[in-house]
This record gives sequence, C-alpha cells and structure tokens, in this order.
Amino acid sequence: MKILVINGPNLNFLGIREPQHYGNETYEDLCRLIRDHAQKRGVEVEILQSNHEGDLVDAIQSAYGTAAGIVINPAAYTHTSVAILDAVKSVSVPTVEVHISKVSEREDFRQVSFIRSACIATITGRGFQGYLDAMDLLLNGGEKAL
Ligand code: DQA
Repeated sequence: MKILVINGPNLNFLGIREPQHYGNETYEDLCRLIRDHAQKRGVEVEILQSNHEGDLVDAIQSAYGTAAGIVINPAAYTHTSVAILDAVKSVSVPTVEVHISKVSEREDFRQVSFIRSACIATITGRGFQGYLDAMDLLLNGGEKAL
C-alpha cells in the first residue's frame, strides 16, 4: 500500500515563510517526519511538492491505480483550483486535505476550499502533525471522524 503526499506552492519555503503561521521547521523536516511515520506504520510513501498547478494535477493523476490514499496540502490552490478538484474526483482515491495553519481563523478568501467536497476529511491547524494524522486516517480506513 502506498500513500502519496502532495504539497502545493510555497510549501518548499517552510521555515522561511511566515513562521507565525507555519512555524520554524523546514520542508525537509516535514519530509523526514512523514518518512519516519510511514516507516513506523509500515507503509510506502511518496512525497511531492510543486509550485505549478498542472504538476499537482499530474501528481494526483499518478495516484490512479498506484496509491491507496492521497494526503494533499494544495496551499493557495485550495482557494482557486477547479482543476485540482476535478483531478481528485477523477482518480477516486481516498484523499485527505491538510492545512498547517488554522485557515478558519484567517482571511475570508481562505475560507473557500474547492477540493474539500472531494475529500474524505480535512485537517487544519495542527501544524506538521496534521500530515501524520491524515496518513493514520487513511490507514485506519477513513472511518475515524476528525
Ligand atoms: C496553507 C493555507 C493556505 O491558505 C496558504 O495559501 C498556504 C498554506 C496551510 O498549510 O495552512 O500556502 O495551505
């Protein structure tokens, strides 16, 4: 069983960008945490990051027939991208939406999520731990309400 973890624009700048929202740990720290957790849970993981919408669509499509679940933080594309929503709907792979910050307490434009309706759950405001919780949710069959 493989879980695909996809990160959108500017998440490669974790540790540099807006630490008041995203903390001081880097993207490499996040990847290490995810890989360690996957090893502990005995699951294969693939981690991708791109600043480009089409690359994220390609990454989601690559899950078709190859991944049992997707963990995705579409970052700013959460609030704008019909293409990413359509990609998740196309592949029918259980998908969990993750945001590091508590988007519900931020600007109005962050209250819209195009992808949310296609996801089995959304996790926000738990920092990097949210990615691990999303992996656990997928591994537990998605039945645990978050
Ligand atoms: C984010 C929240 C988005 O609104 C923002 O554009 C991001 C990161 C988060 O992880 O909290 O880039 O997805």
